[in-house]
Amino acid sequence: MTIRVDTAPVPPFTPSPVAWEFFAGGGLAGLGLDGFRIGLANDIDAMKAAAFRANHPAIPLYEADVWTLSAADLPGRPDLCWASSPCQDLSLAGARAGLGGVRSGAFWGFWRLILDLDAAGRAPPVVVIENVAGLLTSAGGADFAAVCAALVAAGYRVGALEMDAALWLPQSRPRLFIVAMRGVAGPTVPGPVAPFHSARLAAAHDRLPETLRRSWVWWSLAAPARRNLDLSAVLEPDAAVDWFDAGRTEALLALCAPLHRARLDRAAADGSRQVGAGYRRVRTEAGRKVQRLELRFDGLAGCLRTPAGGSSRQYVVVCDDGRIRARRLTGREAARLMGVDEAYGLPAGEGAALKLMGDAVAVPVVRALSDGLLRPALSVPT
Ligand SMILES: C[S@@+](CC[C@H](N)C(=O)[O-])C[C@H]1O[C@@H](n2cnc3c(N)ncnc32)[C@H](O)[C@@H]1O
Repeated sequence: MTIRVDTAPVPPFTPSPVAWEFFAGGGLAGLGLDGFRIGLANDIDAMKAAAFRANHPAIPLYEADVWTLSAADLPGRPDLCWASSPCQDLSLAGARAGLGGVRSGAFWGFWRLILDLDAAGRAPPVVVIENVAGLLTSAGGADFAAVCAALVAAGYRVGALEMDAALWLPQSRPRLFIVAMRGVAGPTVPGPVAPFHSARLAAAHDRLPETLRRSWVWWSLAAPARRNLDLSAVLEPDAAVDWFDAGRTEALLALCAPLHRARLDRAAADGSRQVGAGYRRVRTEAGRKVQRLELRFDGLAGCLRTPAGGSSRQYVVVCDDGRIRARRLTGREAARLMGVDEAYGLPAGEGAALKLMGDAVAVPVVRALSDGLLRPALSVPT
């Protein structure tokens, strides 16, 4: 018998870099971290934890307050720690208690853990902190400076990108990604470059003390090709969803302020099918708080939010053949607006599904960061 020996060189085995996902929610950051192995995840919320386990059964999930975790609980050494810490105290719509607030202050629980890992010689070379752009200006910029100062004190170089999911998906969702690296180097540019180094990011950078600016880097990331998906492409067929009856539609549309009513009238007068998205918001007009429906017909949904009390749920408004119909956005449609594929299992209740998606990070945005900046950096030690 002849034994054939394959003499072709065998490529060296290079294990995937390992990412740990904090404030993991339904695990959407991990879905976008292509090329990484998710070593473990953490979230405090029981509903989120159930959704995470259902969709990522092989990933160890620590369902706990991040403040209760210590380095001794977590085995191994990650290459990347991802933290999508809560944003309620930082969002422009909120009271803005900032990173000192009870919810957004969980960031410091995460940071204490990184310092604990560092003391054990296991801190990651890359840290990504995802949050709302309100972090750039909360507490007059002091919160952003405090995060940068913590990273710099631990020896990281720091930069940030403001990335709007609308470049990939039909949802307006600007988010801030602070990317810190130590011992590895991602691609950089000498100064701010559109679209990811926004004017408000550049202004926040300029407000940082000189000592922090010396450790600042402008990460280089190419803009994606033009998006070719609009809101109507992610919606269920008309016959598969529940539409409001005439009375409820009328009551909803009556909440439009004149500018938004004019948009609706233009869409209805067009004659062809026009798909819009709407949010109910409380606005102050002439010193009085009033409920308003804000509509857009630009092919995008507004930023998905946590449906607190039902008022921040998004509506779909369709003008067709002189008829105007309205309904709620569904959980599955919200998942599509986050770039989540159809195989992803959503919680049974619509409220839970919308909360899961409204809190999450858009998958293609994470993928762009991962492909263009994070994985390249981890293959280039400095
Ligand atoms: C903005 S969401 C991030 C969601 C996630 N990136 C995703 O894609 O689904 C913040 C998450 O932090 C979790 N969280 C809030 N406080 C926490 C704490 N003290 N410890 C651990 N997780 C916490 C919340 O349950 C929520 O899922």
